[in-house]
Amino acid sequence: MSDTGLFITLEGGDGSGKTTQAELLGEWLAGEGRTVVRTREPGGTDVGVEVREIVLHHRGDIAPRAEALLYAADRAHHIATVVRPALARGEVVLQDRFIDSSVAYQGAGRVLDADEVRSLSEWATEGLVPDLTVLLDLDAAAARGRLDEARTRYDRLEAEASEFHDRVRAAYLELAAAEPGRFLVVDAAQPVDVIALAIRERVAAVLGAR
Ligand code: TMP
Repeated sequence: MSDTGLFITLEGGDGSGKTTQAELLGEWLAGEGRTVVRTREPGGTDVGVEVREIVLHHRGDIAPRAEALLYAADRAHHIATVVRPALARGEVVLQDRFIDSSVAYQGAGRVLDADEVRSLSEWATEGLVPDLTVLLDLDAAAARGRLDEARTRYDRLEAEASEFHDRVRAAYLELAAAEPGRFLVVDAAQPVDVIALAIRERVAAVLGAR
């Protein structure tokens, strides 16, 4: 758990609508008088922007363990220099992707040992756990359809086969089922405003419980 602030992460497959929902939730929280830090992994710091470029746009393959280490390195620097300081100031951190992305993509997607992938990130973050994780759940084929409309070119991970994205989705649902108290699972095929309302209600409940 975070010290005094609130740590909310958004998770889901590529094309599940995380960015739109982060924007809407951020606006709502700001309207409620909260100081909000919107950030993401990979790429939430200067160092992270360079790691993101390597991990998403390097031409050719990156060995799965190297990929896992790159994401963990981005995360270690990001949590230490951006997220923990913001939480210590009592702010709300709204973060696009965190450890669950590594467990789903490097664990289930690349077929590395999920517990080892998780341990690596726990070490990198000195055990930081989100107060709430919103999983935007969407069928991989539907997500691909959305990406096709939005992209002229896929990054390394988006370009993976549909079986990869199916494994990622299944892993996310397993993670959510194992920790129902931390996760809110939302059907991302619903209209944007319906999803936003469901998220807002849960966040309000978490804030109210404090
Ligand atoms: P984004 O496009 O949502 O910012 O995510 C970048 C890509 O990186 C996305 O395909 C998911 C992937 N990813 C991992 O494979 N492992 C991780 O730990 C993170 C944070 C992202």
